[in-house]
Amino acid sequence: MQKPIILLSLTGLFLLSACSNESSQVETTKKEAAEAVAQKENHEIVVYSSRKEHLIKPFFEEFTAKTGISIKYITDKAGPLVTRLKAEAERTEADIFMTVDAGNLWLAKREGVLQPIGSATLETNIPEHLQDPENHWYGLTVRARTMVYDTNKIKPEDLSSYEDLADPKWKGRLCLRTSKKVYNQSLVAMLIARHGVAKAEEIVKGWVANLATDPFSNDTKVMKAIEAGQCEVGIVNSYYFGRLQKENPKIGLALYLPQSSAKGIHVNISGAGITKYADNVKDAQKLLEWLSSEAAQKMYAGLNMEYPANPNIEPVEQVEAWGELKADTMNLSKAGELQPQAVQLMDRAGYK
Ligand SMILES: [Fe+2]
Repeated sequence: MQKPIILLSLTGLFLLSACSNESSQVETTKKEAAEAVAQKENHEIVVYSSRKEHLIKPFFEEFTAKTGISIKYITDKAGPLVTRLKAEAERTEADIFMTVDAGNLWLAKREGVLQPIGSATLETNIPEHLQDPENHWYGLTVRARTMVYDTNKIKPEDLSSYEDLADPKWKGRLCLRTSKKVYNQSLVAMLIARHGVAKAEEIVKGWVANLATDPFSNDTKVMKAIEAGQCEVGIVNSYYFGRLQKENPKIGLALYLPQSSAKGIHVNISGAGITKYADNVKDAQKLLEWLSSEAAQKMYAGLNMEYPANPNIEPVEQVEAWGELKADTMNLSKAGELQPQAVQLMDRAGYK
């Protein structure tokens, strides 16, 4: 019964199109133009970000003002955002996943929620070791895992490397953040990459033996403990010290860049990738390219007292005053690859 009806309506369509071929072409062109305008007006990117709102909002607003591309974003922790991207799959609204630590970006790639980016601009602006070897993510700002010490008790000459903090001379003088934090997992992953598991384990056991107190839940608490005299030196991300220093320029703590560590200072990134099912790849790429460019890098890194990922841009004055950053140039995806081993190692070493 259905067949004849379809046939009939098809015949009707043919007749209609045959009669009004010319005018329908005009209609089509008009429709296309209208769609193009609508698409332009709808230029919108959706970002899932584990970076805090105050660190991204000013840049998103500037980008929108410059390009007319609006940005919607939601913020949450990295883990839940990756889980959400996975669950939403092709239904996701997100075009960009933005987070801190290469370990998190590596995980997002492994979970299959990112896609490769083909951008000559990002390739030029971002050094090789700060990007995924298959271009699923790029670093946009750099942070160093540095030492902070009590200037009344320690001279910078007393300090040298992460490895040295395992020496018994530091017994009862060291404070650390918990091993549950990805920053320390990435640091230990890099120690494994440099020294192998056995030697890395020896170093971590040395740290644990030197602890003045149980590990703290965050980097700021490590510095507060040093300030309070509970310990003399700790390992923290550079920008946490930057924040403290900004609040209190006369603070009796200083930052030390462990230049003599095996292959340079362990650096990490904040970065981003384009989601596997992004609807607006073109504009998403535009945003990442702009964030990597001269126009945005200094401010973007400076706002959180980080280092620009683009090596042609100088850091802000406060960061520059800490000294020259000789960064380990091992590809940061290693930090992700070796993370499970790092977690097991820290557990064996009794690092809580
Ligand atoms: Fe942080």
